[in-house]
Amino acid sequence: MNHASWVTVTCTINGAPYQFTLSPATPLSDLLRTQGLLSVKQGCCVGECGACTVLIDGTAIDSCLYLAAWIDGKEIRTLEGESVGGELSAVQAAYAKSGAVQCGFCTPGLVMATKALLAKPHVKPFTVQEIRRGLAGNLCRCTGYQLVVDTVLTLEKEQERND
Ligand code: FES
Ligand code: FES
Repeated sequence: MNHASWVTVTCTINGAPYQFTLSPATPLSDLLRTQGLLSVKQGCCVGECGACTVLIDGTAIDSCLYLAAWIDGKEIRTLEGESVGGELSAVQAAYAKSGAVQCGFCTPGLVMATKALLAKPHVKPFTVQEIRRGLAGNLCRCTGYQLVVDTVLTLEKEQERND
């Protein structure tokens, strides 16, 4: 195999430093899954379902459409980085409690997208339409989305109480 055109990138994933030498055509979702980060689901692999959503420097991105070669110097976060010491993060716990986790396939992507949405500067509280628009890239076949919207509203209220 000719490795002449391979690229080397350094990044952090869930706070730990990594260096990879890879083909420039490797999707980030493939790279993350080969590192054992199996919360990164591959649903459609064409940017339609959001199951592969990760945070790149705090922005929610479909990792199936993002080339691993672009992660040089960036901070990647996946669902695996959410729970610390076995404790669920606030977003994970809210999803689990509200019943917005059914088959669970979409949940890792939705948790990461919700984290990014809540971190965006916005006029509080979110309207239902803003939440639906904010999470429009994440498809869920099970919940009908109302439980997802309720979860985000609950989280925002919790956030306000803690501010
Ligand atoms: S697998 Fe990436 S958007 Fe569907
Ligand atoms: S919980 Fe099944 S796809 Fe969302």
